[in-house]
Amino acid sequence: MNLIDVKNLLFKYKMYSGEKEEVIEHTAIDNISLSIKKGDFVGILGHNGSGKSTLAKQLAALLKPSGGIIYVGGMDTAKEEQILDIRKTAGLVFQNPDNQLIGNIVEEDVAFGPENMGIPAEEIEMRITKALASTGMTAYREASPGALSGGQKQKIAISGVLAMEPECIIFDEPTAMIDPESRKELLEAIYDLKRLKNITVIYITHFLQEVSQADYLYVMSHGKITLKGTPETLFKIPEKLVENNLELPFEVALIDGLRKKKCGCAGRDLYKATVT
Ligand SMILES: Nc1ncnc2c1ncn2[C@@H]1O[C@H](COP(=O)(O)OP(=O)(O)OP(=O)(O)O)[C@@H](O)[C@H]1O
Ligand SMILES: [Mg+2]
Repeated sequence: MNLIDVKNLLFKYKMYSGEKEEVIEHTAIDNISLSIKKGDFVGILGHNGSGKSTLAKQLAALLKPSGGIIYVGGMDTAKEEQILDIRKTAGLVFQNPDNQLIGNIVEEDVAFGPENMGIPAEEIEMRITKALASTGMTAYREASPGALSGGQKQKIAISGVLAMEPECIIFDEPTAMIDPESRKELLEAIYDLKRLKNITVIYITHFLQEVSQADYLYVMSHGKITLKGTPETLFKIPEKLVENNLELPFEVALIDGLRKKKCGCAGRDLYKATVT
């Protein structure tokens, strides 16, 4: 069953151009169609400015389509009366946790989402405890978010979304601001959301290696979906990934280099034998 269906999505930003003294339009999403199954971990990749964050905001109903249609849990994101229910279904974690943390102490931050949903105080207490336990941040419940590291802040932002108990969480480059060690740990915590809680995860990143365990991948370029498939199938066409301005994971780049060095046919065999 699909949790998300996007059909012929179009989105144009309107900007005022002082130079031309007129409103100009920029097409950020150019006729995208995709579907995401309940419980899947889906990676969305693409170069800077390819439209990933715009798509994330569309899926979380923070922006309305200029054309086409998006269904989240069967609800149309263009319908104002369904916005609240859509936001309960699909939560968004931003690239920079500072944009998401506003409380004086961690538990206030985690409570913010469920409070806005009108959840009773006792239930919120339980949700805070559960959410902080799932991200390994229980010990920081009374801490000031400002005093935490980038990775810890990101885990608090994720706890805040978890406390809303959404079916789906969209992560927009969640590891961009943090060091490599915390990056690995955070990524594991995100994969666990799918593995242990059956949460549908949409994971946006520049890094192919971060989504090597995803169920399905979409690659965006200039507002369009230019490649799609399982990680296994996409890693077999490294030249296409490079064409889309993606940096190959070390192992894939190495095998691709060896393939190019040898004659095409032998290289393909080598590749097939190694990537399974
Ligand atoms: N608020 C805005 N107003 C006008 N244009 C915008 C706005 N936000 C994004 N854009 C433009 O829309 C296009 C897509 O931007 P978007 O932020 O979705 O890309 P992205 O794939 O998330 O990039 P990055 O990898 O740098 O985060 C870009 O050309 C960008 O300049
Ligand atoms: Mg972005």
